Amino acid sequence: MTKQKNRIFRRLLAFALPYKGRILLSILASLGVAASDGVIAKLVEPFIDRIVIAQDYELASIVPFLVVALAAFKGISRYVQEYFISTAGQMAIQDIRNALFGQSMNLSMRYYTGNASGALMSKILNDVNLMQSVLSNVVVSGVRESLTLVGLAGVAFYTDWRMALMSFVVIPASALPASAIGRKIKKFSRQGQGAMGDLTTALEQAFSGIKVVKAFATEEYEKNKFFQQNLAYYRFIRKTIKYGALSSPVMEILTAIGVAFVLWYGLSRVLADEITQGQLFSVLAAILLMYTPLKRLTKVNNTVQQALGGAERVFGILDEKPEIVEVSNAVSLSNCRGEVCFADVSFSYDAEPVIQHLNLKVSPGDVIALVGPSGAGKSTIAGLISRFYDPTDGQILIDGHDIRNLTLRSLHDNLALVDQETFLFNATISENIGYGSSCATESEIVAAAKQAFADEFIRQMPEGYQTLIGDRGVRLSGGQRQRLCIARAILRNAPILLLDEATSALDTESEAMVQQALSNLMRDRTTFVIAHRLSTIKHADRILVLEQGVVKESGTHQQLMTEQGLYRRLHDMQFKD
Ligand SMILES: Nc1ncnc2c1ncn2[C@@H]1O[C@H](COP(=O)(O)OP(=O)(O)OP(=O)(O)O)[C@@H](O)[C@H]1O
Ligand SMILES: [Mg+2]
Repeated sequence: MTKQKNRIFRRLLAFALPYKGRILLSILASLGVAASDGVIAKLVEPFIDRIVIAQDYELASIVPFLVVALAAFKGISRYVQEYFISTAGQMAIQDIRNALFGQSMNLSMRYYTGNASGALMSKILNDVNLMQSVLSNVVVSGVRESLTLVGLAGVAFYTDWRMALMSFVVIPASALPASAIGRKIKKFSRQGQGAMGDLTTALEQAFSGIKVVKAFATEEYEKNKFFQQNLAYYRFIRKTIKYGALSSPVMEILTAIGVAFVLWYGLSRVLADEITQGQLFSVLAAILLMYTPLKRLTKVNNTVQQALGGAERVFGILDEKPEIVEVSNAVSLSNCRGEVCFADVSFSYDAEPVIQHLNLKVSPGDVIALVGPSGAGKSTIAGLISRFYDPTDGQILIDGHDIRNLTLRSLHDNLALVDQETFLFNATISENIGYGSSCATESEIVAAAKQAFADEFIRQMPEGYQTLIGDRGVRLSGGQRQRLCIARAILRNAPILLLDEATSALDTESEAMVQQALSNLMRDRTTFVIAHRLSTIKHADRILVLEQGVVKESGTHQQLMTEQGLYRRLHDMQFKD
């Protein structure tokens, strides 16, 4: 193992440390399993010499009991060993999964836009499962099989060291060439897996693009491409089949040569009266019994390598530093008045500047509207206030505090966001509205729904507020979803309100009603309203017209209408008729 693998391995074992009691018990039990095999090999000697040859009837009568007793002892030891090691492994895995999910909740938005969430899910589920096999394999197979081997070798050497030494040199040496076959099989099956990957991609492409295939009449072309790839896959598989079929016979023939040699040597010692028949068979039994543990041990390495690969990916996530963190002496924002100030704020997701030198002072209770073309940076501003990202330059202040100096908890407690992309959890309507307001009572939830004009349609649902929405429940229309999200924000009762296209999916009539409710809500709160439909922001205290991250115009509706600028143009286009 390389140094790096060693480190991963140690880190993995650290997760198992809390369960060392179980692991110790399991190792103890594996001693029992190993001892039973040794005892069986050792008992072959008196069995042959004293019972079969010397015909000791009294001894013969206890043989059946001994067989059962040994089997029972081995069985119980095995059970204890497997039960405790597997539960220890699962408990450690549970801890790792929890740590991983905890970390993923702390990771910042940038991580999620840069990484497919499918990959993260696969790590939490599959890679962690791979890791689980390390513990059970190292302890179950590693410890038990090694101990069994040591025990059996001990018996063989104790019985006749000359013959034992001979076997341990000759048999492995004769089987050595077979390992070359194993390496070849591994190589070809890896290549076969690559070819299988190509095949899957080809399938996926052809099926998802079937409309294009049909429209351009490229069926024959796609077929030929697939046939070729299918053939390539077969070529690799044929090689693995060839070497796979070869490996057992070659191994057996080679081992037979070794065994023949040992047998000849052992028999010659018996004939020369240097050892008894019983001793010969005892050594042979020990050697035969070593076969299974040896085979298992060679597999352990494979599983451990796989698990370490999984562990490496998992630890990679655990070591990821969240971009947005609290400073060590963060202050809690209490009695927030809702004054928001952008001081020369610039921001970019990557290289491209998205917000440039934004200066803005919003007094408590003011309503600020952000308008402008798609991609201008409106949602980005809402995201910056929510601290999904930190500004590249400048600072954002709430009540005079740089938001980077506030605890994340208190910052978000004072914000209520209705996002452009409505998201509802797979839970009841009531739970969705109450999400993030854990102390809200049922009547407060209903009141919030009423304000968002959602109460009426909720009551028409099969189970009212207890109706499950999402995958396993009813589906909602875009406008209904939006009203639930608004109710959720209303319930938060936060001094700063961020409404990003909060009413865009509503029809004109319900929008007017929700708008009415929202304007009641906005009365004593600082509100940022983002909207494409200019009719909804007419009454804002100030309207900022944004274009490519720069504030082009700002003022009230009346002021901007007289300016004949971008706002006037947008307005006139919308109200042409
Ligand atoms: N997560 C992201 N990573 C990289 N670039 C982004 C990301 N989110 C937005 N952008 C880019 O930032 C710019 C501003 O996006 P933003 O979402 O703020 O626009 P917007 O004004 O809200 O537009 P719309 O009216 O369409 O909602 C766009 O050019 C967009 O491509
Ligand atoms: Mg947007």
